[in-house]
Amino acid sequence: MPRMQSGRPAGPEPVVAIVGATGAVGAELIRCLEQRRFPLSELKLFASARSAGGTRHYLGRALPVHELTEDSLRGVDVALFSAGSATSRRFAPGAAGHGSVVIDNSSAFRADPRVPLIVPEINPQAIRDHRGIISNPNCSTIIAITPLWPIHRVNPIRRLLMATYQAASGAGAAAMEELRESTRAYLEGRAFAPRVLPHPYAFNLFSHNSSIDPDTGYNE
Ligand SMILES: NC(=O)c1ccc[n+]([C@@H]2O[C@H](COP(=O)([O-])OP(=O)(O)OC[C@H]3O[C@@H](n4cnc5c(N)ncnc54)[C@H](OP(=O)(O)O)[C@@H]3O)[C@@H](O)[C@H]2O)c1
Repeated sequence: MPRMQSGRPAGPEPVVAIVGATGAVGAELIRCLEQRRFPLSELKLFASARSAGGTRHYLGRALPVHELTEDSLRGVDVALFSAGSATSRRFAPGAAGHGSVVIDNSSAFRADPRVPLIVPEINPQAIRDHRGIISNPNCSTIIAITPLWPIHRVNPIRRLLMATYQAASGAGAAAMEELRESTRAYLEGRAFAPRVLPHPYAFNLFSHNSSIDPDTGYNE
C-alpha cells in the first residue's frame, strides 16, 4: 500500500498492528478501533514472549497475540506502538524501513527533531512531514494542552507550571492490579508484599516513574 500522507489510505483498507496489545494502553487501543469501526483489513496483535499464545477480543473475535520479532511488522501498514520506549527504539525504525507507518505512544521519539510530535486537535498538518514514525506527547501533556491551545492562539502563553500526580495506571496494567490487590489486603488487615512497585501503594504516596536526583530533588 502506498504510504499514507494525508490520513486516508490510497488503496485497500490498511493492515493495522498493535504492539503492546496486552497492556493497559493496548486494551484501550483495541477498544478505540472497535468503537470507531476503524476501517482495516486485518488487525495483528503483538506483545512480548510472556503473552505470546494468548488472545484478545476484537469485535467479538478472539485474535491471537504473537511475540514481536524483527520481521513481525512486514506487510503492516499502520503499527500502533505502546510497549515502552525500549521496545519502540528497538523495533520502530525497522518497521518504518519496511514501509509501515509507526504511531508511537512511548517517549522514545518525542524529542527527535525528525519525528513529528502530533496532537491531532492541535497540529495534524505536521503529520505530512513524517518519515515513517509519528510520535505523541505524554498523556497528561495532551490533556493539558488541548484546552490551552485556543487560549494560546489568542493570548500567547509564555510559561506553564504544571503538577501531575501519575496514578497507578502510569505504571501499566500490572501496577493497576497491584493497587487493587494491595488495597483489598490492607482493608482486610492482611500483609501484602509489593511485587511491581518499589513501595506499598495502597493509601500511600511516592514517586514511581523514575528515580529522584539527590541534587535537585526532581525525577524525570
Ligand atoms: N502517549 C500516551 O498517552 C500514553 C499513555 C499511557 C502510556 N503510554 C505509554 O504506553 C506504553 C505502554 O504503557 P502501558 O500502561 O500499556 O504498560 P503495560 O500495561 O505494562 O503494558 C506493556 C505492554 O508492552 C508489552 N511489551 C513489553 N515488553 C515488550 C517487548 N520486548 N516486546 C513486545 N511487547 C512488549 C507488554 O507485553 P507482555 O504482556 O508480554 O508483557 C504489554 O503488552 C508505555 O511506553 C507508556 O509510557 C503512553
